[in-house]
Amino acid sequence: MDITIDIVFRAHFSRLNGSSATSDRLRETLAFASAALRNPAQVGAVAPASRWLAQAIVRELCATRCRTVVEIGAGTGALTRAIVERLPDLARLVAIERDPLLVGWLRRRFPKVEVVQSCASDIGRVVQPEVATAIVSSLPFRSMNRRDVARCSEAFESALSLDPRSALIQYTYGHGATPPFAASRSGFRWSRARTVLMNVPPATIWVLHPPTSP
Ligand SMILES: C[S@@+](CC[C@H](N)C(=O)[O-])C[C@H]1O[C@@H](n2cnc3c(N)ncnc32)[C@H](O)[C@@H]1O
Repeated sequence: MDITIDIVFRAHFSRLNGSSATSDRLRETLAFASAALRNPAQVGAVAPASRWLAQAIVRELCATRCRTVVEIGAGTGALTRAIVERLPDLARLVAIERDPLLVGWLRRRFPKVEVVQSCASDIGRVVQPEVATAIVSSLPFRSMNRRDVARCSEAFESALSLDPRSALIQYTYGHGATPPFAASRSGFRWSRARTVLMNVPPATIWVLHPPTSP
């Protein structure tokens, strides 16, 4: 099954060698669909983030004033592209992605971005103490198993604890009645930023602040 999907994907991909925006978009859609078919629970979405969702996330990112950004679950780079375009002179931009084919895609597409093939729970390896860091996460917490939710949320809270100016920007699908996960450390607080209707499906952006965050 996996091999069939990859062969179909590669066949389409190799035929679409044009450089137009339309064929770029089509290639991205095929790459995303291929990943979603290979591992639906890990991808947890039917389409990449829309440009409206990407723009709204970048607005929240700008509000943090962090100059170091770690993007988690970068996928085909829908958010990476918006971050690179809007904030071209960040001190550091790291993209962490678990799927090896998507990692290859990201490295070809964003040669200047530090792309790490790893699980989000390894974020501690890239975040440094006393460096204000914005974590921008697309992890599908609602479709992940409980063990992965616990490991990744604990790793995020631990990373945010390294500098009180840090923040996690995370979106979930729907109108956002509840935060993406319950913060387990004391003093952490979620704020609900906004709901973006122009996305499939509509998504709500949340921001998690560590204690004593300004
Ligand atoms: C909903 S997709 C979002 C992709 C992209 N950021 C976008 O907005 O279009 C979630 C991504 O997270 C990745 N992912 C899921 N679990 C992960 C984990 N534990 N560590 C790293 N990446 C993970 C998936 O492979 C997938 O690319």
